[in-house]
Amino acid sequence: MKIAVIGRGNVGGGLADLWERADHEVSRIGREGGDVSDAEVVLVAVPGGAIADALDNVGGLEGKMVIDATNLVGVDPPEGFSSNAEYVKSKTSGPTAKSFNANFASLYERIGEAGSRPSSLWSGEEEARQVVEQLTRDAGYEPVYAGPLENAAAQENFIKLIFGISQGGLGPFLYRMASPDKL
Ligand SMILES: NC(=O)c1ccc[n+]([C@@H]2O[C@H](COP(=O)([O-])OP(=O)(O)OC[C@H]3O[C@@H](n4cnc5c(N)ncnc54)[C@H](OP(=O)(O)O)[C@@H]3O)[C@@H](O)[C@H]2O)c1
Repeated sequence: MKIAVIGRGNVGGGLADLWERADHEVSRIGREGGDVSDAEVVLVAVPGGAIADALDNVGGLEGKMVIDATNLVGVDPPEGFSSNAEYVKSKTSGPTAKSFNANFASLYERIGEAGSRPSSLWSGEEEARQVVEQLTRDAGYEPVYAGPLENAAAQENFIKLIFGISQGGLGPFLYRMASPDKL
């Protein structure tokens, strides 16, 4: 599949590496912007508060399927939207999903160590299901559907619980849940 990642840091760059290993063709766009006309699917992985700037710098988004992996850390979604994913939808009008925002990028290289496939939540539109679920499996995760795009706000807020658990000292617990042999 031809994939474009907007944001080539821990998440965008990390998933690009995993997808290239699964024989996908990935182009990587940073803050300089670029064009995604050739891509079949676009991943957005920029700081949550930079989503409007990031999309404004990218051409060819009209009608594209987009997977939004952003989190809102100390910032709100753009005015008038309850989630970044719904903002993305308003800019592209293509099939849209929220995914990968609840998985730590620092564990990408350790997915293979897990006793069973770690889960990755996604919420979004049915038209995106096949691609999201394939790319989730190709990255090494098992997709877990979490409802329609209206649930993206809840999925973005879910990260606060994960941070809370992590700051409470049980971060690795989330990893061990998927790796019973490491308990
Ligand atoms: N790290 C995690 O474990 C994790 C997990 C799930 C979700 N997330 C979320 O995923 C997103 C990316 O996180 P990350 O850890 O990958 O961040 P990161 O390593 O700092 O990478 C951020 C990327 O966004 C680009 N960028 C920054 N400001 C931009 C702007 N104004 N316009 C366009 N592009 C811009 C940067 O471009 P340059 O390359 O040009 O600098 C960089 O490629 C965030 O929303 C984060 O909350 C993170």
